[in-house]
Amino acid sequence: MNQTNATAAWLPFLPMGIPVGRSSAEIARHELDAGLAALKCEKRVVLEADGRGEGYEILAEPDGWRIRGGEPGVLYGAYALLMALARKENPATGINGPSYHLRILNHWDNMDGSVERGYAGRSLFFDGNRLNYNEARIHRYARMLASVGINAICPNNVNVRAPMDGLLTQPHLDELAKLADVLRPYGIRLLVSIDFSMPASQEPGTADPLDKQVQAWWAARADEVYARIPDLAGFLVKADSESRPGPYTYNRTHAEGANMLARALKPHGGQLFWRCFVYNCRQDWRDRATDRPKAAYEHYAPLDGQFDDNVVLQIKNGPLDFQVREPVSPLLYAMPKTGKALELQLAQEYTGQQMDLFYQAPQWQDILKELPVGAAGAIAAVSNLGDDPNWCGHDLAQANLYAYGRLAWLGRSEPDRFAREWAALSFPEAAEEISGLLLKSPHIYEKYAAPLGLGFMVNPHTHYGPSPEGYEYALWGTYHRANHEAVGVDRSTAGTAYTDQYPKRLRDLYDSVETCPDKLLLFFHRVHYQHRMKDGRSLLQRIYDDHFEGAEEAERLQSAWQALAGRVPDDVFDRVSRRLEAQARNAREWRDVINTFFYRLSGIPDEKGRLIYP
Ligand code: GCU
Repeated sequence: MNQTNATAAWLPFLPMGIPVGRSSAEIARHELDAGLAALKCEKRVVLEADGRGEGYEILAEPDGWRIRGGEPGVLYGAYALLMALARKENPATGINGPSYHLRILNHWDNMDGSVERGYAGRSLFFDGNRLNYNEARIHRYARMLASVGINAICPNNVNVRAPMDGLLTQPHLDELAKLADVLRPYGIRLLVSIDFSMPASQEPGTADPLDKQVQAWWAARADEVYARIPDLAGFLVKADSESRPGPYTYNRTHAEGANMLARALKPHGGQLFWRCFVYNCRQDWRDRATDRPKAAYEHYAPLDGQFDDNVVLQIKNGPLDFQVREPVSPLLYAMPKTGKALELQLAQEYTGQQMDLFYQAPQWQDILKELPVGAAGAIAAVSNLGDDPNWCGHDLAQANLYAYGRLAWLGRSEPDRFAREWAALSFPEAAEEISGLLLKSPHIYEKYAAPLGLGFMVNPHTHYGPSPEGYEYALWGTYHRANHEAVGVDRSTAGTAYTDQYPKRLRDLYDSVETCPDKLLLFFHRVHYQHRMKDGRSLLQRIYDDHFEGAEEAERLQSAWQALAGRVPDDVFDRVSRRLEAQARNAREWRDVINTFFYRLSGIPDEKGRLIYP
């Protein structure tokens, strides 16, 4: 078998040719005609436009189906129908609507074409310091996103540095407007990352949010942008974070900074997405009073009630930074008077970088299960896409994008559902095996890379591969403080009191070593190596066991894949084989480096006498 399809693997029935149409309904018609023909389905599909916006309904009719929906609802309905038919299932009838009003993909792309934390090639949007894209590819990208209901994208990096700060000026603005025109019929709106300090380098000479000239400058900028892109979803801002400028420079609060921008967007119906990834990134490792996970809550929770209604605080899922295992950010339970968006990261920065297999939906499901319904009104994920022919570098990493879109639409669901759907669509002859591999993958990675909530043992800067003390004496506030007898930071009320930021039920659960779930033990507690875990093993034995098992299971992933030869396209088989081989090698490295690190510190041998390097 041979197949290299620059459309998503889960849409194998759609041709490479781009859909033609200026509205969602026209595109839906085109996709249905092409898709039904490819699926050899002779039934008739009638499209019926109503004013429902994103919602849609599929109705069975004697000779086929009727899809009733708005713009882009009919298009969502068309994809849902085609994907059900491709899986040889009856399309779900009944009314369908999204759980989050904005389901966003954040690209961290730079104008020179590089992608921050990008592991799938170069930018799909930028090159040579301008918007410079392959339009046919953008159509296929938009189709892929629309097929799972993603309805907004931010093409540029949250770290806005020159020349990116010129994106909202000509000639870039016209280019951006053209991109918006390509995406619009797919129901996708643009967001743009902006640099808070922009007016400081222009006539106002300051970016103080309370300065009238600054306010007028942003209002004029918003007017100009909305004149070209009337449906822009808004601006995205990373302020006072990792050396990006922000309101603190002017002794203003983040509410004052965010509201100033929100007021410029308000007349146009835009929203201001303000990221809460704010912490001291110049910490002294000797300082034990400062605890990075506490930072976001400390900065924002006291400001509840002060933000305008079109401000949305965009909050990373965990309080640290996209680690393999973190508790849900306490900020997501707080601030009832403030609009919030949950931010996830598809890019797998700390979970294998699309070299190691890591299916993310179970992690998200854990997060969403924990959160009260309505805790966030919007959802965003840092993209895992680049210009690699298979979009994600790792062919199986497309499952994460698929699952993200589906989960963002449905709100919550069993994670195995998306794995099964994706595998059935993408690799019908090996669907069961592949969804099995996906579902096992996060547990395997967690075991060999960072069990029990132990984060940041990665190589500095690249964040790939083991380096137990890589961040231990650095400025970033990410310490595990392992010594000869214990590891972890005490974040209980007896320690840094991070647990106090949670609602009582969770604070009590996490506060005690006895009740804290094992999977998060080392996130919340400093624990002696001889501590008895719930299953009777000592902490250190559990760390050794997990690393040995994880590395073995990574090897088994590889052999399970080999058994699929001939049942997936050859090119996919070869690419995935190479990645799984690298993963198995990397897992051995993690195992040996981490186990050796703890053995040398503690002097405690493995009870099972396996090889650890003295
Ligand atoms: C991480 C990541 C950075 C990124 C930052 C952010 O720290 O390593 O590259 O800029 O998150 O979310 O802003």
